[in-house]
Amino acid sequence: MRFLALFCIIFSFIYALPEQFDKQKYSKGEKVFEQKCTECHVKYMDIALLMKNFIEEDNKLLNLKAPTGNEISFRLKSQIGSINDIEFQIIEASDFVKDYLYYPNKAKTICLEGVVKHFNTMPSLKGKISLSEIDDVAFFLYFLEGFNGVNEFYHDETKF
Ligand code: HEC
Repeated sequence: MRFLALFCIIFSFIYALPEQFDKQKYSKGEKVFEQKCTECHVKYMDIALLMKNFIEEDNKLLNLKAPTGNEISFRLKSQIGSINDIEFQIIEASDFVKDYLYYPNKAKTICLEGVVKHFNTMPSLKGKISLSEIDDVAFFLYFLEGFNGVNEFYHDETKF
C-alpha cells in the first residue's frame, strides 16, 4: 500500500500538470506566438528529426529559419533555474524571454551551439511586442512541451 502511494506521488509529479498551469494564459500566449513568431519559428517538430537536420544535415533537410517552439520550450526548462521549483522557473523563463526579445544576442543563448550556429541573431522585437504579450508568450513556450495534458505534443523529456 505504501509502495502504491509512493508510486502515485512520483507518477503525478512527473506527468501531471502543475498547479501553475493556466489554460487561458497559455491560449493567449499561443495566439501571440502565432501572430508574432511563426514568421520565423515553427511551433513544433519531432526532436529526432530536428537533431538529424541540425547535426547531420547542416539544416539543409528542413531549412529552418529559427529554432522551433518545442526546442525553445525544452531549453527554457533545462537551462534556466530548476524544474523542481516551477513557480520560480516560470518567472525566470519569462525574464529571459523578455530580455532576449528586446536585446537579442547569441552570447546569451540557451540553445545548443550546434543548432544556433545555423542562424543569425534574432532581430529585436522592441516596439513590436508589449511586455505583457511577452509574458504570455513565454508562459506558452514554457508549457508547450513536456507536460502531459497541455496539448498533443507531449513526450517524456526524461527519455532524451
Ligand atoms: C524575423 C525572424 C524572427 C521572429 C519574428 C522571431 N524570432 Fe525568435 N529567433 C529567430 C532566430 C533566427 C533565432 C536564433 C538565433 C538567436 O538565438 O538569436 C531566434 C531565437 C529565439 C529564442 C532563443 C534564443 C536563444 O538563442 O536561446 C527565443 C526564446 C525566441 N527566438 C523567441 C521568439 C518569440 C517569442 C518570438 C515572437 C514573439 C520570436 N522569437 C520571433 C528569429 C525570429
